[in-house]
Amino acid sequence: MAGLQTPFYLIDAAALRRNMEKVAHLREASGARALLALKCFATWSVFDLMRDYMDGTTSSSLYELRLGHETFGKETHAYSVAWADHEIDEAVGYADKIIFNSLSQLDRFGDKARGITTGLRLNPRFSTSGFDLADPARPFSRLGEWDRDRLESAMDRISGVMIHYNCENRDFDLFDSQLTRIETEFGDILKRLDWVSLGGGIHFTGEGYPVDRLADRLKAFQDRFGVQAYLEPGEASITGTTTLEVSVLDIIDNGKKVAIVDSSIEAHMLDLLIYRETAKLPQDGAHEYQIAGKTCLAGDIFGDARFPQPLQIGDRISIADAAGYTMVKKNWFNGVAMPAIAIRDDDGTIRTVRDFSYDDYKSSLS
Ligand SMILES: Cc1ncc(COP(=O)(O)O)c(C=O)c1O
Repeated sequence: MAGLQTPFYLIDAAALRRNMEKVAHLREASGARALLALKCFATWSVFDLMRDYMDGTTSSSLYELRLGHETFGKETHAYSVAWADHEIDEAVGYADKIIFNSLSQLDRFGDKARGITTGLRLNPRFSTSGFDLADPARPFSRLGEWDRDRLESAMDRISGVMIHYNCENRDFDLFDSQLTRIETEFGDILKRLDWVSLGGGIHFTGEGYPVDRLADRLKAFQDRFGVQAYLEPGEASITGTTTLEVSVLDIIDNGKKVAIVDSSIEAHMLDLLIYRETAKLPQDGAHEYQIAGKTCLAGDIFGDARFPQPLQIGDRISIADAAGYTMVKKNWFNGVAMPAIAIRDDDGTIRTVRDFSYDDYKSSLS
């Protein structure tokens, strides 16, 4: 790692494979299929490693759909909150299944999708989200249909539904009770379908999660309704696999010791800022520092960290869990150097798979 200039995202192949083995186990034990949600993680350099453990990809736009088709292959689900007229033919060309977000999109484009499997997003009007920005069941949510008459009028044109209502859900019992609610409230509809996607947000690769109970529950769901279940794990696929490697550029003491690093939460881990969370930083030792980014944003702060020794300029810091909703959201704010992307292979070798230069910054604008 000595030669590689910070900042860079470092994906650990062995850790990724461990997650993938859990995904594969769940698929085998439950019969459910698992599609990588590209909105969370689209770093296609590691798709060769992931492909054998998952069934394909799901997407939120034409570009994600195309990326999944080109770089991952296997089953390719197309979903978008709204397709444009000029996108739909191309989208249908890449996808083997298209899930419309609304009845009006189904009305508008259903004929164009006639050659492939068609579905609709169902919004059960509850979720596990405690944060309204990310709550698909928030008031007036535009994410899917719930009205019985509207759902009914789609039934002769769809063979399945996608229901995304879990958000960072680590609690199997909550998953179980909410799935029961879906079965109770929408069972008559589910019975008439061939497939049901339960979306993402189930953190089944986390430490201590009862994966086999989840597998049994999914199996029972499929048996009861005669459907093929899909999961769309984003975060669960890649959690704990990646760090953001940064270096200390300056140390300031204004009543609190602040270490400024060659990165930015706003530019390189934006999701944490949006959800008012702090980064996972080292916490061992008596020397405490606030770790801050180098943009002009006053709140460009990763969080507080502890180290066994006082920090020095040039020290390396690893920020954990930096795969999900990071690389897909990175941006050029303040022209801060974009982290390279590197992979630690099984033998410990680190190889850079992408780096970014001034030319990339310049070409992102005109
Ligand atoms: C429809 C859909 N599927 C899958 C996901 C992936 O969720 P997660 O990364 O929490 O597993 C999301 C996240 O917002 C989503 O909206």
